[in-house]
Amino acid sequence: MFITFEGIDGSGKSTQARLLAETLREAGHEVILTREPGGSPGAEEIRRLVLEGDPDRWSAETEILLFTAARRDHLERTIEPALAAGKVVISDRFADSTRMYQGLSRGDLRPTVDRLHQMMIGREPDLTFLIDIDPEVGLSRAKGRNGHEERFEDMGLDMQRQMRAGFLALAAEFRLRFHVIDGARAAEAVATDIAAMALSALAGPDYD
Ligand code: ADP
Ligand code: TYD
Repeated sequence: MFITFEGIDGSGKSTQARLLAETLREAGHEVILTREPGGSPGAEEIRRLVLEGDPDRWSAETEILLFTAARRDHLERTIEPALAAGKVVISDRFADSTRMYQGLSRGDLRPTVDRLHQMMIGREPDLTFLIDIDPEVGLSRAKGRNGHEERFEDMGLDMQRQMRAGFLALAAEFRLRFHVIDGARAAEAVATDIAAMALSALAGPDYD
């Protein structure tokens, strides 16, 4: 089973992905915890190209190509081999992030993102948790972290609001695989909800 976490910066994706991995391992599943951009050596190199340095370094179109190239490598080297071996793959972000960040933030490039996805990736998660949170809370949480990857966190509150609305619309578009989770609670409470949904999906009739 392929599970992804999506949401704006600081919503708690990494925290929840880690907690879910622990819970599923305790339940006896073999779990690969991974992230995007990155998740394979080649994709981690591309991560540095897109998240560090001058924010205007790449055009919107080039950025779509770089994120998709990273995803293709991640898929080939990490995700597909793990799924083929019967493991559960949990990824902190996946293609929905490109649909939002590259598809929405610099004009409407969603059709380009979709075409490239269809051609080069062609896989959707079985289950996606959208951690929904007020952008002001997300931004203050994200600012609390140190690091060089400020490229997207610096996009400001208005853009984060647009991203939040976009993610909610995406959840409606792909409603069979999306679960919208209220992220404005203690991490343990959020994790309890997510674990219940993931364990039930893993026990369900469609999954073997
Ligand atoms: P994301 O991966 O979505 O950017 P993180 O999981 O890295 O978010 O969380 C951002 C920051 O907020 C971290 O410092 C984390 O410890 C903290 N955090 C995560 N979840 C919660 C929560 N439910 N309540 C308060 N703080 C949280
Ligand atoms: P991430 O490490 O998840 O940051 P955060 O923990 O702050 O959410 O992702 C880094 C940034 O990369 C994030 O701001 C969103 C951006 N991003 C894209 O723009 N497109 C993509 O396809 C992906 C996967 C991430």
